[in-house]
Amino acid sequence: MRAQWNSKLGFILAAIGSAVGLGNLWRFPYIAATNGGGAFIFPYLFAILTAGIPILILEYTLGKTYRSGAPGTLARINTKFEFLGWFQVLISFLITVYYFAIVVWVLCYIGKSFGCTWGDDTNTSFFSDTLQITDSITQVGGINVSLLLPFFIVWIVVAIIMYGGINKGIDIACKICLPILLLCVIVIFFRGITLPGAIDGIAYMFTPDWSAIAKPDVWVAAYGQVFFSLSIAFAIMISYSSYLPKEEDVVNTAFLTACTNHGFEIFAGIGIFSIIGYMAYAQNCGVEDVAAAGVGLAFVVFPTAISTLPALNSLFGVLFFVSLFTAGITSLISIIQAVITGVQDKWELSHSKAVTVVLVPAFIVSFLFVTRAGLYFLDLADYVANNIGIVASGVIEVILIGWFFKPEKIRAAANEFSNFSIGKWWTWCLKIVTVIVLGYTTVSNLITYFKDGYDVYPLWIGVIFILFLVIGTIVLTLVKGKPSFYQKPDDAPGYDD
Ligand code: ALA
Repeated sequence: MRAQWNSKLGFILAAIGSAVGLGNLWRFPYIAATNGGGAFIFPYLFAILTAGIPILILEYTLGKTYRSGAPGTLARINTKFEFLGWFQVLISFLITVYYFAIVVWVLCYIGKSFGCTWGDDTNTSFFSDTLQITDSITQVGGINVSLLLPFFIVWIVVAIIMYGGINKGIDIACKICLPILLLCVIVIFFRGITLPGAIDGIAYMFTPDWSAIAKPDVWVAAYGQVFFSLSIAFAIMISYSSYLPKEEDVVNTAFLTACTNHGFEIFAGIGIFSIIGYMAYAQNCGVEDVAAAGVGLAFVVFPTAISTLPALNSLFGVLFFVSLFTAGITSLISIIQAVITGVQDKWELSHSKAVTVVLVPAFIVSFLFVTRAGLYFLDLADYVANNIGIVASGVIEVILIGWFFKPEKIRAAANEFSNFSIGKWWTWCLKIVTVIVLGYTTVSNLITYFKDGYDVYPLWIGVIFILFLVIGTIVLTLVKGKPSFYQKPDDAPGYDD
């Protein structure tokens, strides 16, 4: 008997918990800042409307109609589509192992917030003291022993949630974490906007620089951010919705998830940009100089800002890092669940066996990201997963469903139980707009990567990540699953219908 969410609320909170993650709090501010500031908002909204929401509706409908994770759902539509499901599952596996490391750093920083022990030089504190970083990715430098305690704590928390399953693990974790997250972000927002210089940060976030809109890179970044943030095209939402009853109205749930996620992202973004504005004011420099700190924004710029606050520094530090921690945990568990559902369905494993089969290799591989070169591996894995994996997976998904299957059948399935029906615009967004934008993005990213590599990292290391995705996909697709894996429910539309 397939597990089912205890309630619709449980599913909605889990989906929002998955979407709202480090992508909102840690990634969005620096992606927006490095892609034209306010100019980013327009392509970002366009990407939400033309790809984010339509694909979310697509994935919810696929999951609840075919009642399996991404590989099973796609195999039940057509066995030739199964490979895409495994590709998505492997992207999730790759994201899992590096996402872990960020949650581990966040946990360290919750500890450091007590008394702001990062000191005055937050750069040295993060890179040299916390990460003990080596000079390059090829100097791995062994395991960073000082990260092992938080590393094991995060693993234990995650293992308890995953063994608990959909209702006794994920549902409960989201119901605990999300209110804490909301509370922390509300405090960050109001503290942020009342700081001197806040208005400059907010103005930077919202003032459009129209020339940036003409740059393809800004569009690529906007689509990438929306996919990562909404947890689409890497198996998560298909997996979560496969535990829904068929009668569930997924259209309004998709709008609710997207609006909450992006509303939260912009709300938290205002708080974060206010603090960036305050930093620029305190350091007497431009907002863009502070905002461009990239990965270090949360761990270098924020600790400095927290230390320079007039009062209650430790408390504010704890609130900030607890918000990152709770957001990170609810997303991390959804990413792992995407892998577990895929494996469990194909080989009809018991829940605990499937969890073990996924967590043991993830545990072993995640050590790579707590080595002294962990940040470099993380940066590269994040690039490969997002700029190559997710965009390629997204475009293949819309091509397979839009052009090789009949999207109208999925639209009918979505509308069957929905309060308001989606029109033909949905089909056209998927078949035309998303295919063109993502197709262009995928091809140009691949060419750029194989021509110039990414940053200073040797090309071959990224190629290993890519080969892991490609070879893994081939192997997992070719290994035969149990007959039930390929069996579509009688009421689901078939390929030849
Ligand atoms: N959607 C998740 C995030 O934003 C993966 O972090």
